[in-house]
Amino acid sequence: MARVIQDSPDPAWLTNLDEECKPYLKALHQLPVVRAAIAYQLELAAMHRFMLQIGRGIIEPFPGWLNSMLLRTTTGTLQARFLYGNQEEEEREHWQWWQEMAEAFGVNPGEYQTIVLSNEVGGFSELLTFLSAHAPLAAAMTAVNYVVETAAAHITAAVAPKLYQQLGGYAAPAARWLRAHAEGDPDHSADARELVKGLVGYEWNLQCACARAARMTYQLFTAALDDAYR
Ligand SMILES: [Fe+2]
Repeated sequence: MARVIQDSPDPAWLTNLDEECKPYLKALHQLPVVRAAIAYQLELAAMHRFMLQIGRGIIEPFPGWLNSMLLRTTTGTLQARFLYGNQEEEEREHWQWWQEMAEAFGVNPGEYQTIVLSNEVGGFSELLTFLSAHAPLAAAMTAVNYVVETAAAHITAAVAPKLYQQLGGYAAPAARWLRAHAEGDPDHSADARELVKGLVGYEWNLQCACARAARMTYQLFTAALDDAYR
């Protein structure tokens, strides 16, 4: 996606938050599902559960979270342009692509109709539903764009080279979700950062709200990904 805003120097509150989040990102890379994928040791039964839980709890509602934030922006603003583009891209086919990848791990699409989310995945999903609709927009974007999109791109990039082979190769239809997310989108992440910075400005309360949203989101995201693979 093309940039909507130019880079500006990072304020201290954001560089502090970056530092604080590094151990969370590192912990995500240590999760059993990530380590197993990198070692070619994914357990089929656990992966089946993972694809169902994460699909229903995170991938399917993701465009709705973007929409909740978009509804709170003013038409024509940079936030609105960013979220509109983000949502269009996500809405298109990502949930469909996830289900195609899940089929490679034995998931029948009908199973999504009856899946009961675990406390960890359901709790994370509800946190994002709440933040995207009710937290200050800067804190909501911190949760959805600064944490979830960025962290998901990092771990997808780490597992992709190995997973492609299990999905029938880089060009296989089952690998479409992986291809779309493994390369990440540095421009998109950079835009999200700039927009959060602009919304927060010098407001101490908003800086605290963003930091809280980032911590809670990382903690519950990690718990959800950990719980889903077992
Ligand atoms: Fe996506």
